[in-house]
Parts: sequence; C-alpha cells; structure tokens
Amino acid sequence: MSTSVISAETRRLLADMRARIESGRVPARIFNDEEIYRLERDRLFKKAWIFLAHESEIPKPGDYVTRYISDNNIIVARDEHGQIQAHLNMCRHRGNQICKSEMGNASHFRCSYHGWVYKNSGELIGVPYFKEAYEGKLDRREWALVKVRTDTYGGLIFGTLDPQAPSLEEYLGGFQFYLDIYLKQGPNGAEVYGPPDHWVAKTDWKICAENFAGDGYHTPVAHQFGFHLGYFPSSGASHNQGWAVHIPGKGHGIGLGHTPGMPPFFGYPPDLVEKMKQTLSPGQLEVFSKTRTAVATVFPNLSFLIQPFSRVPGEPGVRFCTMRLWHPIGPGQIQMWSWCLVPKDASPEYKEEAYKAYTLAFGQAGTFEQDDFENWTNLTQQAGSSLVRDLDFPYPMGLNAKPLEDWPGPGFAVSPYVTETNFRNLWLTWLDYVGRED
Ligand code: FES
Ligand code: FE
Repeated sequence: MSTSVISAETRRLLADMRARIESGRVPARIFNDEEIYRLERDRLFKKAWIFLAHESEIPKPGDYVTRYISDNNIIVARDEHGQIQAHLNMCRHRGNQICKSEMGNASHFRCSYHGWVYKNSGELIGVPYFKEAYEGKLDRREWALVKVRTDTYGGLIFGTLDPQAPSLEEYLGGFQFYLDIYLKQGPNGAEVYGPPDHWVAKTDWKICAENFAGDGYHTPVAHQFGFHLGYFPSSGASHNQGWAVHIPGKGHGIGLGHTPGMPPFFGYPPDLVEKMKQTLSPGQLEVFSKTRTAVATVFPNLSFLIQPFSRVPGEPGVRFCTMRLWHPIGPGQIQMWSWCLVPKDASPEYKEEAYKAYTLAFGQAGTFEQDDFENWTNLTQQAGSSLVRDLDFPYPMGLNAKPLEDWPGPGFAVSPYVTETNFRNLWLTWLDYVGRED
C-alpha cells in the first residue's frame, strides 16, 4: 500500500498514537478496521519474523506442511538432505498453488495446470514440451520456486519476507530465556502432539496476542467456572501474584502467575523436573520453579500457555502446553491455529494426560477457548462500530512501574502480575512497524 492512499484519519491516528500509548491509552479503531488491516499486512507481516511450523511437524525427509505469512501461502518442507525449506506455494508459470494439501510427504510437487515439476528444495526440474514449445531455451533456474528466508529457535521455524530483517536471534532479543519453559523441558526439547486445530473466528488478532502477553486480569472473571469447579489448583484470590516481563522495543511479553505456598514445579512429574534441571539455567529454574501459569506472546502473533489443570475437578493438576497462532485473514477476522506441545522427554502416559487436559481447555471445543472467543468476538464487533471507533481504551496499569532490580532474567520485569506494562510495549512495537512510512 503506498503512503498516498492512507486516509487523513489514519495518518492522524498513527501520528498521535505514540503519545497516547505512553499516556496509557489505545485507540479502539485499530481493532477492526480495513485500512489498519492493510497497513498491518504490508508494513508488519511482510517485515517481521512470522511463525510457520514446529520442526516436529516435519520430522522426515519429504514431510511438508502449508502455512501462511500474511496472505501468502508457504510450503514448509524437509528436503531430501534433511534441510528445512520454505517457498511460496506458487507455480512460477501462471501462479497456481503447486501443493493443495495442508500436510503430507512428497519429494516433488507437480503443478495441476500445465504440469511444471519442482523438487521440495525449490528447483524447477520438469517443464512439459520443453524442447518443442520453449525450444529448450527456458532458464529453469530463473523460474525456481520463490524462496522464503527462515530461521529456527528451539524447534520453532520462523519465516520472513524481508531480506533486510534482523536475524531471528536479534528479533527475539532475549525472549528465548522465557520461551525455553515451553520448548526445552528436557535435553530433547518439545514436540507437537498431533496436528493443529484450526478454524475461522471473527476477532482481531491483536486482541488475542495482547491477552496472551499476560492478561492475568481476565482469568478469574472470564474463566471463573474453572475456579468454581476446581479445574485450577489455585484460587482466583491469588491471581494478582507473580510477574509480567517484556522485552522493550521488541513487543514480546510473558505473564508468570504465582500461587504462594504452591510447591516448586507444581504439576510436573518428578522425572521431567530432573530433565529440566539438566537443561535449563539456574536463572530459568529459579523463575520457572515458582511459576504456576506462563502465558506469552512472541510478537506479533504467536502465543504459548502452560499451566496445571485438573481434568477431574479437585484433583492435582497436570501441566499442559498450548502453542497458538492468531493468523489475520481480514479486518476483525482470524484463522486460529492451536497446537498441543509436549516435552519429548516425558513419558507416553504424561503426554496423553497433558493432551487430554489441553483438549478440555483449548482447541475448538475447549472450555477456556470458548470463554475467550465469546469476549474477543464481541470486542471486535464493538470496535468496528461508528461511535466506538472514535474512542480510546484505558491502559494505565503500571504506568510508572520500575523494573525489579534482582530479576534473574532479561527484559523489563514487574510485579504484580496484573498490569499493562507488557501491553503498552506490544502497542509501541506495533506502532514501530505500522506507523513507518517506508
Ligand atoms: Fe503451473 Fe502452468 S500454472 S504449470
Ligand atoms: Fe483466557
């Protein structure tokens, strides 16, 4: 989108927004607006590192999944040498999708229109009537699949459409310390437990990303049935206890809920705790041993949650972990992706229990998922209405909070857990991308 077609209203909004965020306000309009959606597509999702897949989804040569960066469909494959490859899922001849399945195993992809054939590493190797129709002169190297730059951390495969983007390591900016609670609960890391659920929801992706950047405020209210029925091994009364941490300027944030008196590593089996002690640093162990709930967003739209959950109300909980992607598909609309992650080093029984807890709470039929989406779709609909779009929402919590001096991890850490420090950082980072004119 060229800058010339941005409306005066949006220009004013973006020019003014930094001061509004810094004073503890966020404009409602950004949560459901056609023009903001297009700016996000062109200025944010084409520039940032976007999550594509977990390595355990494509363990063998030839395995592939198809995913998205913004509105671009991407094939993520493991080639015959075991290397991860990502390419635009588009035949270079006329633009047909060369792969129409969401997952599978293939060494080659053959276009269903005129039959061009590509290796899963991107080379164009087959062109029908190459000699007769092209006189043998088409440069097949020039018409290989469009490569997407990728990098990985802890099994997460990210891609970016921006050749100038900083390295993934720089982009994550220290947030790896916190991601390890989801990704490195043992020397062999994490794996997906089954394929992801995905579905379409009428909510803005940012509402979800903000919630998972540490909205401990909503939990005792939106999910109060969980406390009443005993699904949570804690009381709503202690819900303010814990920490919120963000990486300034990067947008990533995590909420770490803590229940006083809860034993260290509550809800993890002892053998897994031993594996964690072999894998994680002393600073990470100090933080995670005290953490009941860890809920995080990697800017812009990848989130995680780990928490103990009692499938049988009143019984001690088991830890489940969900990884989720809030993939925008239009103004106020997402394709929602939800995975269950388990530690590779855990026993089969623990993995199955964790998966059952995840399924009860999250995924399409998850009780907690429904609580959240009921609210998020409502917020989105409201934000698109003619009066609401002119209003601000208040974000003053923790406006003058000072970072904890003895915090053992990177980033800006504050206590209590219920605060909006992470959210303002998320909005400022969003503005760094969406407000940039180039
Ligand atoms: Fe693929 Fe023509 S569009 S071969
Ligand atoms: Fe929730």
